This record gives sequence, C-alpha cells and structure tokens, in this order.
Amino acid sequence: MATERLRLGVNIDHVATVRNARGGAVPDPLRAAKLAEAAGADGITAHLREDRRHIRDADIERLAAGLSVPLNFEMAATAEMQAIALRIHPHAVCLVPERREERTTEGGLDVAGDEARLGDYIAPLREAGSRVSMFIAADAAQIEASARIGAAVVELHTGGYCDAHAEGRFAERDAELERLRAMSAHAHALGLEVHAGHGLTYDTVAPVAAFPEMRELNIGHFLIGEAIFAGLEGAIREMRRLMDAARA
Ligand code: PXP
Repeated sequence: MATERLRLGVNIDHVATVRNARGGAVPDPLRAAKLAEAAGADGITAHLREDRRHIRDADIERLAAGLSVPLNFEMAATAEMQAIALRIHPHAVCLVPERREERTTEGGLDVAGDEARLGDYIAPLREAGSRVSMFIAADAAQIEASARIGAAVVELHTGGYCDAHAEGRFAERDAELERLRAMSAHAHALGLEVHAGHGLTYDTVAPVAAFPEMRELNIGHFLIGEAIFAGLEGAIREMRRLMDAARA
C-alpha cells in the first residue's frame, strides 16, 4: 500500500483550559488555532464537552467561522450536540464518550453496545455532509459496528499505549501497539479511514505514524504543554517532523 501523507489535527482544548482558569478572554483558542494552521496543522480539533469545562459554545462558533483548515468537532452523542453540529456544519464530527456508561473497558465509545441508536444518531450528520468518526478502542467488535452504522472514520484510542510507555510497562506498551497496528489494518480493510489519538507525545508518535493505513493523528495536551517551552509553532513543527520521518 502506498503510504499517503499523514495529517496532523491539533486539538486546542487546553488553550481554553488555561483561559478558563482565570475567566476572561486570554489565551484565545482561535488565535492558537490560527497559529497552528500557520505552523502546518492540517486541521483543528475541539471538544465541546457537556460541562463546557474548556471549549465553550462561543469558541466553536468562532472556530467554525474563522478557520481556513477543516474543523473536527468532538462531541458526545447527545441531542444537544447533534443540533449544534447540524447548525455549524463542521468538516468532521468525532463522537466521543463522556459518561461512564458510554465507555468500553478500554475507554473508547461503545459502538457495538449501542449500535442501533448510534446508527440513527449519525444519519442526519452524514446527510448534512460531515464526515463522522467514532473514537473507539482498537477492538474488532467496535470497528465492525462502526462500519455497519456507516461511519466514515474510526479514531483509535492511543491512551493505553501512551500510558504504558510513560509508566515503563514496556511489554504492555508493545502489546497495545500491536493491537493498534492490527486493528488499523482491519478497519482499513473494511473501508474505514483510520485516525488515532489521545496522549501522543514526541516519544510515542513515531510507531503509530508509521502504520501505512493511518491517515490522521489528533494531538492536543502534549503540544499545548510543550508550547510553554518551545512555542506552539515550534512544538507543532517538531511533531510534524517526527511524523514525516516515521513515514519516510
Ligand atoms: N482524539 C480524541 C477523540 C480526543 O478526545 C482527544 C482529547 O481528549 C484527543 C484526540 C487528543 O488527546 P490529547 O489531548 O491527549 O493529545
């Protein structure tokens, strides 16, 4: 398989976390998103949580209106969020778990356990032209259910792999990586576009970036933290360099 260019989606949620720590308007997530665009981000990801703990409604409106690159709108599968997505028409909608009962044991959305409802839920989003992505564990049953309901994309949860690396559990890390590798191939074979994200850092990005089926990585917390030391532009350029080197 030809290794296609891997897109980097920059998640700017935690710019809003810092802003909200003091109230007020700074730092501005839209300003960070525009800087990320200039540094080579292929898309911007933002998660409007039900509790609005970081991104707020006004941020989503400004991002939807002000970006030059695609917006990937992360949200829970609720009626409130569906109405917002249908109004702002993001390029992509990524469904994520927020409540405990929506989670599989590995931490992704339980598509297999809620297949009929989620199929109905995503139908109007697909009809409105958003690419619908399911944030799931690297698990065959979740991938197959995502394909059956007509999702265009699965985003595989890399949190377990990254946590195992950070905590020095290297055998587990390598097992997680093998699971991600096998399930990327499985999802691709079913016609799904494969994305991944959660917890990725300079130390963990390369093996995932090297999977030939991988088309997009969504990375936030580490980049916003690293921006304290290297600036946001420097942090994004270094992540882009590591991704490109892994693909070469
Ligand atoms: N992908 C999804 C679906 C997410 O919900 C998140 C953030 O919670 C990310 C990627 C980015 O994760 P991180 O901020 O750990 O890089």
